[in-house]
Formats: sequence, structure tokens, C-alpha cells
Amino acid sequence: MKKIVGIVGNFKLPSSTYRVVAEITQQISQKLNMEFVIYNLSDLGASFPMAQSANELNFEAKHIIEEIINSDILVVGVPTYNASFPGMFKHLFDLISPETLANKPVVLSATGGSERHSLMIDYQLRPLFNYFKTWVTNTSIYVTSNDCIHTQPTAVLQERIQQTIDELEHLIAMKD
Ligand SMILES: Cc1cc2nc3c(=O)[nH]c(=O)nc-3n(C[C@H](O)[C@H](O)[C@H](O)COP(=O)(O)O)c2cc1C
Repeated sequence: MKKIVGIVGNFKLPSSTYRVVAEITQQISQKLNMEFVIYNLSDLGASFPMAQSANELNFEAKHIIEEIINSDILVVGVPTYNASFPGMFKHLFDLISPETLANKPVVLSATGGSERHSLMIDYQLRPLFNYFKTWVTNTSIYVTSNDCIHTQPTAVLQERIQQTIDELEHLIAMKD
């Protein structure tokens, strides 16, 4: 069965970013009949912060990196910190060779305290995944507390998730 891997770019739980990634990932899983797993940065364990290369990671962290590389779809979610993604999230992708993610379908999402930083995805996160030569959906998902992810996605948010899934289906058809 094909597999979706969700990566949450912070360490904390509970986390609104985790909830956003879970919502997107579960909906893709149901619509495209794929299994899924979600990791946050805490799952990478104690070796992660100081590792200078993937060789220095412990077993759990190496396994997560293999899951990312072998995933059929990657769903990324980050909290906005000072108008960008957290540095420790970038550190994870610094441990991954760019060629290993080429042509992988990717969905980008972010949470923020303010709608004013919604372009963070397009100015900060998308260029990183362009560098990795991934296939990022045109639609991305930015969520603030106004979108009520705590209870149920708003109609606007639900529409964006559906649009993302439609785009993913096209990307997957191109790969198959
Ligand atoms: C260090 C720090 C910097 C932040 N900077 C921004 C920012 O520049 N723009 C913004 O909209 N929200 C900012 N926030 C708010 C977080 O993006 C917001 O609380 C996020 O949704 C938290 O997600 P979480 O529940 O997964 O931690 C910042 C929060 C922290 C802790």
C-alpha cells in the first residue's frame, strides 16, 4: 500500500501544527486509500539536534529519514517563527540529500498567529522544496486560530484541502 508521511516542524504536543498535518494527512489517506504516519521533531530523539550528518543519527531518527525518502506523498507542516519556518525543521532537511526527494509529491502547510504571514509558505518553504526538486502542489494551506482547526476545519480550509487532494491526484497520475 502507498504511504503518506506527515512531518510536523516543531517539538511540542499538543500543537495546532500537528492537528493541521493530521487533518490533511487523514483526508488524503481516506480519499486516495493510502496508509499514513506522522512524526514531529521530538520523534527524532536525542541524537538529532547535534547531528552534523545522517550517519550521526540514532536508529529512530535514521528510520524517520528513510520513511521521508521512501514516502509516496510528503505532508509538511510548520509553525511560523519570526516570518519563517523553525530552524530545527530546516536542520532535519539539512540531513537529507536533495536528490533523494526528487519528483516526490509534497503538500505544504503552516500555522501562524497572524494572517499577515500567510505568504511565508510561498517565500520561505516553497523555495526549500523547489531546491529538493519535489513536486509541490500549487495550493498550500496556512491556518490561524480563526480557521478553528481545534474543532472542525472551516469551509474555506476544507475547500483548500480538497483542492490540494485534486492536485495530488494529477501529480500521482503523472508519476505512475
Ligand atoms: C518564537 C515564535 C515566533 C513566532 N513568530 C510568528 C510570526 O512571525 N508570525 C506569526 O504569524 N506567528 C508567529 N508565531 C506564532 C506561531 O506561529 C503560532 O502560535 C503557531 O500556530 C503555533 O503552532 P503550534 O501550536 O504547533 O506550536 C511565533 C511563535 C513563536 C513561539
